[in-house]
Amino acid sequence: MNDNKAAYNSTIYDDKVIHVLPYYREYHGQIIDLVKNMKLKEPDWLDTGCGTGTLARRVLEDRSDVKFTLCDPSEKMLEKAKEKLAGVDARFFNLSSQQLMFASEFDIVTAVQSHHYLQREERKDAVLKCYHALRENGVFVAFENIRMSTDESDAIALSRWAQFLKDHGCDEEEIEMQIERRGTEVFPITIEEHIKLLRECGFRSVDILWTSYLQAGFWALK
Ligand SMILES: C[S@@+](CC[C@H](N)C(=O)[O-])C[C@H]1O[C@@H](n2cnc3c(N)ncnc32)[C@H](O)[C@@H]1O
Repeated sequence: MNDNKAAYNSTIYDDKVIHVLPYYREYHGQIIDLVKNMKLKEPDWLDTGCGTGTLARRVLEDRSDVKFTLCDPSEKMLEKAKEKLAGVDARFFNLSSQQLMFASEFDIVTAVQSHHYLQREERKDAVLKCYHALRENGVFVAFENIRMSTDESDAIALSRWAQFLKDHGCDEEEIEMQIERRGTEVFPITIEEHIKLLRECGFRSVDILWTSYLQAGFWALK
C-alpha cells in the first residue's frame, strides 16, 4: 500500500521521480528564478503538497531569508521533508490543500504536482484555499500534469511520455501502470482549463511559466 497519492512510496519517491517526470528538476529551477525576479525580501512561503521537501531545500541552498511553511496530506512524505530540512526553522502541517486554513499570510504559495489527484470541484477548492493563504500581490505557482487540447494530441503526448519512461529504465509494467493512472488516480486538465480556473478563483494576472511533455507550470498574482 502506497503511503501517499504519488505513484511511489515516500522512501523511493526522490529516486524515482526524476526518471518519471521529464525535466522534474527544472520545475523547481523555474520557480526559484521567477521568485528571485520578484525581489521579495524575507518572504513567507507556503509549499502545499510539499512531498519530500525538495523545493524548499533547493530554495534554501540559494537564499536563506525565506520563512517556509510546508504542508502535505501524507504523514510519511512530511516526515521525509522534515528529515531533508533538519535544522531549518520551518513549520510543517499534515494538511491537504483543501484543508489549508491560512488567511493572507504568505507572499508565495507553491503547489508542485500536487493538485492533479483532485476532481474539478475539489481542485477549485484547493486553489481557492491557496488564494486565501496569499497576501495581496502574492504569487501562486502551480506545476501540474496536463491534458492536451484534443484526444488526438493527448494520445501523441502520451506515446511520447511512454518513450521517455522507457528511455529512463521503466519496464512495460511500470509504463502501463503510469498510463493507467490517468483518469483513475490522476485527473489532468488542459492548459486552457487551468488558466480559466485560476481566473475564476480571483487571480488578477495568470500566465504560463513553463511547459513540456505532459506537465505545465502556471503563475498567478493575487
Ligand atoms: C508527485 S508528489 C509532488 C511532491 C513535491 N511537490 C515535489 O515537487 O516533488 C505529490 C504530493 O502531493 C501530495 N498531495 C496529494 N493530494 C494532495 C492534496 N489534495 N493537496 C495537497 N497535496 C496533495 C502527496 O501526498 C504528495 O506528497
